[in-house]
Amino acid sequence: MIIFDKENRVFTLHTRSTTYQMKAGRHNVLLHTYYGPRVTEEDLSYLIRYADRGCSPNPPEAGDDRCFSLDTLPQEYSTCGVGDFRLPCVEFALPSGSSSADLRYAGYELRPGKYALEGLPAFFGGQEWETLVVLLEDAAARVRVELYYGVLEEQDLITRAVRVVNQGDQPLSLRRCASLCLDFQRSDLDLITFDGCHMMERCPARAPLRPGVQGVDSARGTSSHHHNPFVILCERETNEDYGLCYGAMLLYSGNFQAAAELSQYDSARLVMGINPWHFSFRLAPGECFTAPEAAMVCSPAGFGPMSRRFHRSIREHLIHDPMAGRRRPVLINNWEATYFDFDAGKLLEIARTAAPLGIELFVMDDGWFGGRCDDNRGLGDWWVNREKLPGGLEALAPQMEELGLGFGIWIEPEMVNEDSRLYREHPDWALKIPRRDPARCRNQLVLDFSRPEVRENVYGQLYPVLSSAPIRYVKWDMNRSLTDVWSAALPPERQGEVYHRYVLGVYEMLDRLRRDFPDVLIEGCCGGGGRFDGGMLYYTPQIWCSDNTDAIDRLRIQYGTSFCYPVSAMGAHVSVSPNEQTGRVTPLRTRGAVAMSGTFGYEMDLSKTTPEEREIIREQTAFFKEHYDLIQKGDYYRLTDPFREGPYTAWAHVSPDRRQALVTVVYGSVRAVQSFLTLRLKGLDPDARYRVSGEERSWSGSVLMNAGWPLPMTRGDYQSLQLYLEAE
Ligand code: GLA
Repeated sequence: MIIFDKENRVFTLHTRSTTYQMKAGRHNVLLHTYYGPRVTEEDLSYLIRYADRGCSPNPPEAGDDRCFSLDTLPQEYSTCGVGDFRLPCVEFALPSGSSSADLRYAGYELRPGKYALEGLPAFFGGQEWETLVVLLEDAAARVRVELYYGVLEEQDLITRAVRVVNQGDQPLSLRRCASLCLDFQRSDLDLITFDGCHMMERCPARAPLRPGVQGVDSARGTSSHHHNPFVILCERETNEDYGLCYGAMLLYSGNFQAAAELSQYDSARLVMGINPWHFSFRLAPGECFTAPEAAMVCSPAGFGPMSRRFHRSIREHLIHDPMAGRRRPVLINNWEATYFDFDAGKLLEIARTAAPLGIELFVMDDGWFGGRCDDNRGLGDWWVNREKLPGGLEALAPQMEELGLGFGIWIEPEMVNEDSRLYREHPDWALKIPRRDPARCRNQLVLDFSRPEVRENVYGQLYPVLSSAPIRYVKWDMNRSLTDVWSAALPPERQGEVYHRYVLGVYEMLDRLRRDFPDVLIEGCCGGGGRFDGGMLYYTPQIWCSDNTDAIDRLRIQYGTSFCYPVSAMGAHVSVSPNEQTGRVTPLRTRGAVAMSGTFGYEMDLSKTTPEEREIIREQTAFFKEHYDLIQKGDYYRLTDPFREGPYTAWAHVSPDRRQALVTVVYGSVRAVQSFLTLRLKGLDPDARYRVSGEERSWSGSVLMNAGWPLPMTRGDYQSLQLYLEAE
């Protein structure tokens, strides 16, 4: 619910359990007054203190009032160069050559429903949303800034976006344009970021805010393996079930920045948006720029409820699922089974083993096109390699269907190898800086996706391939960071736009793909989880979580990912043991239990499995299908933290009506002498009685949650347990 108090010029945004408030204050400065547990909509600006602070300047309208300073007041959208020295949200490079920004309140608009953003991903929905637009103006710069707020009351979710319009008669440049600003009049907060690297993505890192600026960013052209565009600010004591926390995600797949600053007077500010480094955007008179959407959830009761709010909002209001209401298929992917070394015969051999095991879709990974026999050649040439697949996809896909398997393919549209026809014909289509030899990564270059003709060519190649056969699934990969970013199509003063235009180009092509092939399930991928963000999820309902398929490492990767993103988005496969990345030996049952807490599939040469292993796989696919809704659409509870090196890792999926639950426990390496371990469950109905799989009698939810469940001792490393609970 959005309430505007005209007299006090206060905007209050209520969600089910939180309240967000801002006020057009004195001199039309837009002040942030509150974000936290739900309160009444009275004017909370009494919380703002005014004092004459040394070195904090006063705007001219303040006259001789030395207590009014942009440098000390909590701002709704911070400016720069005119008195606030903390992290700015926006900076204009003006025709005079100066740079600054000074914004004052100029009006508002209330709309039912949810705003949309042209060319950018955004949460969507109907009447369950409300929109507020607050208008700000910089009279000297002749710029209008529109702050958008979308309120999804039921899920405690507030989205934000920003539009900047050049209202002057000369061009100007935007040097930065953040999507989200949160000012707190307190300092005792921790910042949690989700960091890592290729094959170990999204590991939580928590630290108290310290004076100055801290945070994470990406300058790799993707949101990156290294830092995720999702962060949490929380109180010192906050844990899974207790304490105040604020989660903030940016729906953007390129360079981002999430920065927190603790100021001289112990106030904190969080700013999130496109990374200002390498960024500028020129606006001709009348032109506008739209910053990507950000979304926030405040939870007064710990990280668990925060994550579950994000999960549901993302599932229901961000992901366009072509299979909505249907079960997504259990798949087999041939990458770790064959790498580049396959032909139609080999693929069909794997498929023939897969189909009777309950697997439903075959994904042909990298290596089916152009001259792609290894990773040094072929990218950019999107036609079927007839040496490997003599009958083409038009023969292979129906053969798969006859076996009972849908068929999907891997593509990497944004890339090119120099050893390709595309590159030989259009060497200027790769990102390159004049007179510099570009850096190679996996021996490939990046196509300049900011250019429509480049996208058109690639799409023009892919369209006939995707139309040539019944293709049900596409894995869109992207396997290198951007370097040498310079576009031959833009003048020097517009080169600061290339990173962002590249991302817009990717979004445009994904959108086209989604619209032209509405029944195709698209999986995002970026050297594993290098672009696991809300921007991609708008176009690709699932994303390959990591190139690390080791079940024990995956416990950590999937745990970190779950703070923001739902299980149904996390690409996870059972792979061979010893694992290809770590050499670790794990039981097949454990690999299955971990992968089925994601989108679930297999990535191994099934034709080499034993009859016993096939029996286990058959059981796993049947179990997953039986509990699909519970796992994919249930509420997710983290029961332990795998980074704490405890004897086991556990989590639970609980149905929204709390009638069913699936608890998974994965033990670590075994010890001769084991402690008596008791696992306390979460999320159950305390008054219901639950039957536990394999047991004769039932237990009450209150007992299972408070007294707990005795875990058996194990033999052998990395054993696991899945308990299915059903209310009587
Ligand atoms: C990336 C992906 C893998 C696989 C390879 C193919 O690394 O993450 O899953 O598709 O590319 O080259």
